[in-house]
Amino acid sequence: MPPSILIAYASRNGSTREVAETVKRIFDTDGEPAAMRPVLEAKDLTGFKGVVLGGSIYRAALQQEAMLFLRRHHETLQQVPLAIFALGPIKNDPDEWARSRRQLDASLAQLPGLRTCAIAIFGGVIVPHRLPHPMNQLPPSDNRDWSAIKAWARTARAALAQA
Ligand SMILES: Cc1cc2nc3c(=O)[nH]c(=O)nc-3n(C[C@H](O)[C@H](O)[C@H](O)COP(=O)(O)O)c2cc1C
Repeated sequence: MPPSILIAYASRNGSTREVAETVKRIFDTDGEPAAMRPVLEAKDLTGFKGVVLGGSIYRAALQQEAMLFLRRHHETLQQVPLAIFALGPIKNDPDEWARSRRQLDASLAQLPGLRTCAIAIFGGVIVPHRLPHPMNQLPPSDNRDWSAIKAWARTARAALAQA
């Protein structure tokens, strides 16, 4: 049986891909194995009964490749349930978390009718040497909470199954 859940991710600097890998591990451990692909390679959603999209927030919006995925598959994703996570806040400041969530919501509002059944913001990562000047002057940080990520993956798996 081919996998019925697709985990599609867009990751410029790798941190979202690592979260997608963890989400996949949870799906694989708790149920049937999921397929996982970068968004640009996820061209055909035929046969999938649920989709997880992972992206990150850049410059106040969901990353372009993730938006392209949602636009390309907008019609299908009004039928097939969708769980979305996005990385963003690099500090544990409630205002920063609320801002990232607003940025994600504003991006998703451009695509009405998505069958979103689970949605989450996770802390983001800064790896200075991967960034161009002047961002490479930022201090390194990793604000991902792996327990929260794994807990959300379990919630998302159940929500996709019930949707
Ligand atoms: C240039 C730049 C701009 C960013 N802009 C935002 C932003 O507007 N909102 C936000 O919540 N996070 C922002 N972030 C944080 C990223 O979402 C975070 O670093 C994330 O982990 C990047 O994911 P990736 O490693 O998969 O590319 C920004 C990061 C960088 C480097």
